[in-house]
Amino acid sequence: MKSLDIGVLEDFVHGEARQLRLDGHVLVVVRIESDVYVLDDRCSHEDFSLALGEVEVATCEIECARHGAMFRLSDGEPMSFPATRPVAHYDVHSIGGRLEVMVP
Ligand code: FES
Repeated sequence: MKSLDIGVLEDFVHGEARQLRLDGHVLVVVRIESDVYVLDDRCSHEDFSLALGEVEVATCEIECARHGAMFRLSDGEPMSFPATRPVAHYDVHSIGGRLEVMVP
């Protein structure tokens, strides 16, 4: 595992998804209030960017804009069809105000 610096909380907008390309990884970063979630930016149904979808703040999920599958931001699990497999999820830690993502 290694740690990638993705910036500070204020770099991200509450309720929005943003794609980040870092160190060979394509990630989607979502901020909800003071929590930050990071998943692979690739729907598990087909190869499509989750960063293009809408964030459901109330349920802490993101919707794939292509066919509407919902994924739980806290662990990448699919919450609705047509997706049946999870999207990889990465832990985020705040270290001295910097957000660090643990990736393989
Ligand atoms: S590509 Fe995401 S639900 Fe089909």
